[in-house]
Amino acid sequence: MALPNILVVGGAGYIGSHMVKRLGELGCGVTTLDNLSSGHRDAVLAGEFVHGDIADRQLLDALFRRRHFDAVMHFASFIQVGESMQQPARYYQNNVVNTLNLLDAMRTFGVDKFIFSSTAATFGEPAYSPIDEAHPQQPINPYGRTKLMIEQALADYDMAYGLKSVCLRYFNAAGADPSGLLGERHDPETHLIPLVLQAASGRRPHISVFGRDYDTPDGTCIRDYIHIADLCEAHWLAVQSLLKGGASQSFNLGNGNGFSVQQVIDTARQVTGREIKVVDAPRREGDPARLVADSRQAREKLGWQPQYADLATIVAHAWQFEAKR
Ligand SMILES: NC(=O)c1ccc[n+]([C@@H]2O[C@H](COP(=O)([O-])OP(=O)(O)OC[C@H]3O[C@@H](n4cnc5c(N)ncnc54)[C@H](O)[C@@H]3O)[C@@H](O)[C@H]2O)c1
Repeated sequence: MALPNILVVGGAGYIGSHMVKRLGELGCGVTTLDNLSSGHRDAVLAGEFVHGDIADRQLLDALFRRRHFDAVMHFASFIQVGESMQQPARYYQNNVVNTLNLLDAMRTFGVDKFIFSSTAATFGEPAYSPIDEAHPQQPINPYGRTKLMIEQALADYDMAYGLKSVCLRYFNAAGADPSGLLGERHDPETHLIPLVLQAASGRRPHISVFGRDYDTPDGTCIRDYIHIADLCEAHWLAVQSLLKGGASQSFNLGNGNGFSVQQVIDTARQVTGREIKVVDAPRREGDPARLVADSRQAREKLGWQPQYADLATIVAHAWQFEAKR
């Protein structure tokens, strides 16, 4: 199979930038489209960079006219659950309306393969754990609902227009490129591992632990962290399956092991050798005790084999990036 030409939308962000680097290393043609609303131009380490917004249909048309793409990987969205509850209109606009605009442009230019960044937040409160693809999808916040709406639109677009897609529902993306060149740079940062490491490096006075009375072995919440390199590998396998004529599918992507907030803090202390100040706080509304993915389908159907499932490695790679900052 000839190496494909791929448009990475949101390729200047945390996950997208790792994907762009990986596609470049594989020898694929890669173009990043990003409005830099939260991404970083200097994180785009391969291919062409186009500064623009998926809301801009003229820009999309000009881009699709100028370059042929075999597939689109779509990472661009707003990503904060809390903000989505305060400002739902922004979320529905960017994550739903603007994504439909992108899909329309793809249809106009006959680009019919799409990899979509979905999320564990489409499931809502877990009815059981680990969460497999058959788990009911009942999101409990606007962020999760915007992602589910696009999953549903994609099923309809396949039936009506033959647009093939793979929806990858990540649990918590974590870690950094083993080279140390890329890492997580959200502002504000809301993800546990970078927050804990910022407390280790002194950029943050302490880390808050929200609730120690959950029904888990140490009382803190359990989450599933998937190394960014393993996530990128799943995208590459997913796009290859579509390019070979595969059907539309959805996969839950996680590590398979849950780790508690306390385990993450303890691991970060070991990896960094630093003191990390912890402040206990009450539970946050809507935080389930345990969110862990069942990723067997991705292993079985895509042949996905995570390489960095070990929490210490995930934290060490993230620390390598944080320590440089
Ligand atoms: N980080 C996680 O743990 C996680 C978990 C589940 C799902 N996801 C999903 O993965 C995707 C990537 O997440 P991330 O952590 O890399 O986020 P990020 O904020 O780092 O990256 C998003 C990128 O999209 C760009 N962007 C946003 N709106 C745009 C628009 N209208 N036009 C062009 N560019 C636009 C931003 O500038 C940014 O570079 C998101 O869709 C997110 O919902 C992330």
